Order: sequence, then C-alpha cells, then structure tokens
Amino acid sequence: MASKQLFTDSDIADEAVRATCDDASICKRFATSKGYWTDLYVQYFVRQVGERKAPEINRGYYGRVKGMNLLIDAFLKKTQCDCQVVNLGAGLDTTFWRLKTVIVIILPPLSKPLIETHSTDSLLLDCHSLDSDRYCIIGADLRDFPTLEEKLKKFQINPELPTLFLSECVLVYMTTEQSSKLVHWVADTFPTAMFINYEQVNMNDRFGEIMIENLQRRQCNLAGVDLCQSLDSQERFLSAGWKSVNALDMMTVYSMLPQEDVARIERLEFLDEKELLQQLLQHYCICWAVKDKLNLGLSQIGF
Ligand SMILES: C[S@@+](CC[C@H](N)C(=O)[O-])C[C@H]1O[C@@H](n2cnc3c(N)ncnc32)[C@H](O)[C@@H]1O
Repeated sequence: MASKQLFTDSDIADEAVRATCDDASICKRFATSKGYWTDLYVQYFVRQVGERKAPEINRGYYGRVKGMNLLIDAFLKKTQCDCQVVNLGAGLDTTFWRLKTVIVIILPPLSKPLIETHSTDSLLLDCHSLDSDRYCIIGADLRDFPTLEEKLKKFQINPELPTLFLSECVLVYMTTEQSSKLVHWVADTFPTAMFINYEQVNMNDRFGEIMIENLQRRQCNLAGVDLCQSLDSQERFLSAGWKSVNALDMMTVYSMLPQEDVARIERLEFLDEKELLQQLLQHYCICWAVKDKLNLGLSQIGF
C-alpha cells in the first residue's frame, strides 16, 4: 500500500515562500549590526547576527528600509497618524513594532519568534491570530480572499479611515490574477488609502533569470514575475481602480535618499565593485498608489 502523503506539493511550496522572510530578516539583522540603520526590535526575531553579508547586500537593504520608511512616515504625517496600517505578508518585519498600531497579515501558522515576542497585553487567539490594543497579527493567506476579508472585518478594520497597505517582496509570490484581485479589492474597499509595494523589476535579463533559478532550487516559485518586467507593469494599480501611481527603481530611490546619511553608510564598509550594487538596485523598485477621497494630499507623497 502506498504510504500516506503527509505534505502536498503546495504545502512544500508555501513553506518555501514562508521561509523567504527568514532571509530578509537575517539580512536586516546583519545590516543593523553594522550600523546601516537602527532597529531595536529585529534582534528579538533573529537572535544571532549570523554570517557576514556582502556590502552591496547591506546597502541594498538600507535603500529598501529607508525608502519604505520615508513613504510610510510621509503617509503618517499627511494623516496626522489618524489612520490604520496593514502590513501584507509581513513575515518577521519589525515595522509594526516601530509604528505600534498595525494589522499584520502573515501566511499561517504564526512562527515561533512571533509567538515568543508577543507582549503580556496581547492575546494569542489561536495559532493563526494574535490581538492586542496596539497591533494584531492575522494569519491569513492573501490568495484566499473571502477568509482574508472576513478576518479583517472581525478585527474591526475601518474602511473609512485612511489606510496604508504595505507589501514588501510579497505580491511576486502570488499569480498575477491573485495579486490583481487583492489590489483591486483594496482600491474598492478603502476610499482613502495608499499602497506601497516593493518588489523585483527588470526581471527579463540574466540577473532576473539567475534569481528565479536560485529560488526555484529552493522550491520557491515567483508566480507573479510576469508583472516584474518593467516599471510600466506597476500601472496595474491604475487598472485596479487606484487614482495615481508612481514607481521608481531602487537605483533612483537610492540617489534620492538623504545624501548625508548615504555618505555615512557608504563609509561603513568598502565596496569594491560598485556595478554589483547598481545591478542589484536596478532589479528592485518601490511603487506607491493612492486614492484620496478625504483630500489629504496623499498624491503629493514622494521622494
Ligand atoms: C521575502 S518575505 C518578505 C517578508 C517581509 N515583508 C519583509 O520584507 O521582511 C515574503 C513574505 O511574503 C509572505 N507571503 C507570500 N505569499 C503570501 C500569501 N499568499 N499570504 C500571506 N503571506 C504571503 C511570506 O509568508 C513571507 O513572509
């Protein structure tokens, strides 16, 4: 008799996608240990600093974190913090610790570091959700739309409040159809909102091919990579009902960050081959889309 299969192919694929958050957090932990930026919380999720990362990787993460944070802070300023933040596919990202009032969506179940670091004023509801006054973590598959919607309602998300949606290297793991539905639903449901999406771009060259092959070797499929061919692909937000959208590759974002701080981090480690950093930055982008029924001036947000 054939033995019973405990894990399906899709379980294995989901586990591989889930594990990508470890890579991101390990790299962020290393870069912060070198002083690229300050993150008081990452040490609680990744205990060990781990092995050395190349300077271009650290600078790439610096650009990613600084770029995202600049847009997040601009949104908080425009809304005077009278808003909600939903971090989609947050993994172990520490943004919610910095902001304090955030709804975090992760692919269930909750990971051990997340459960271990929840504070005493929070309530672990089951292995899928954690609730507190300041933040809640919802285990939900972004591809399973009805459940996601139901869970967000249960946690009393208020569609009328200005809402910031974050997705950092997340949509690319969903098929274009699945991520389009998500982006559409957000636009339809939240009249005053901003969606910040950080992901791969210019993936139709050898660098992109190698990235795809490396991930495939780990059973991890970039199912949405078709939307990562050029910055123009991010116009998908317009067809999904957003009023305006901007997209910049990370090379451009890096050059628009406060240059004094960039000069500081560039002194931290010697970078021998500048082309490696350029190549890396040219393959990621930040895109931000807005809808602004309350006329808060969200469309003015930028670098
Ligand atoms: C590369 S990690 C990025 C984590 C985090 N956003 C960061 O930047 O540190 C990708 C994350 O997307 C999440 N993810 C991918 N597909 C998802 C889905 N269908 N539902 C929920 N989360 C998903 C994974 O669980 C993983 O945590």
